Amino acid sequence: MKVRPLDGQDFHSAAARIDDWFEDAGYEAIHPVFFHHFGGYAVEDDDGALAGFLIGFRSLRNGDIAYIHVIAIDPARRRQGIGTELYDRFEKQARVWNCYTIEAVAEPANTRAIAFHRQRGFKDRLVEGWGGPGIDRVVLQKSIQPEFRA
Ligand SMILES: CC(C)(COP(=O)(O)OP(=O)(O)OC[C@H]1O[C@@H](n2cnc3c(N)ncnc32)[C@H](O)[C@@H]1OP(=O)(O)O)[C@@H](O)C(=O)NCCC(=O)NCCS
Repeated sequence: MKVRPLDGQDFHSAAARIDDWFEDAGYEAIHPVFFHHFGGYAVEDDDGALAGFLIGFRSLRNGDIAYIHVIAIDPARRRQGIGTELYDRFEKQARVWNCYTIEAVAEPANTRAIAFHRQRGFKDRLVEGWGGPGIDRVVLQKSIQPEFRA
């Protein structure tokens, strides 16, 4: 298993898998621009197959926040620490970016994702209308210590 930066080519593999890996995400959540110009990390098995990926970036509106847009792990590879490995990588990067907060958003019904974030120390709150009228979301935030600021 290898963790490496996400690249434009990963879009094709991710698009082919997203409906099976993250039923609520949908195609627009993994628009090609995220792979070509935002980035994140991919986990590859020894045969080169994608086992999971994370799209994450520093917020342009608020540079104190590093935002995780999508994480999705192959259902056959869950509970093996792959999500943890990807979050560890991203949190390390977020500290180098001098961010104070890591943020992610989940559907209220996604109890698996909420449990994953809680055990990593994320606090959650329901934000009504986060995704538009009637589209409530759980906003998950974790405080981190930036690497270069006191
Ligand atoms: C959420 C997700 C990314 C977790 O990835 P993963 O590789 O299985 O996570 P890990 O193996 O690193 O799990 C670490 C810990 O998180 C918690 N956790 C993970 N999945 C869980 C589940 N289904 N139920 C309860 N707790 C869970 C556990 O504490 C787990 O530790 P343990 O296995 O020793 O008990 C994965 O389930 C996934 O891809 N889900 C579909 C897409 C999705 O919902 N993405 C999140 C959007 S916000």
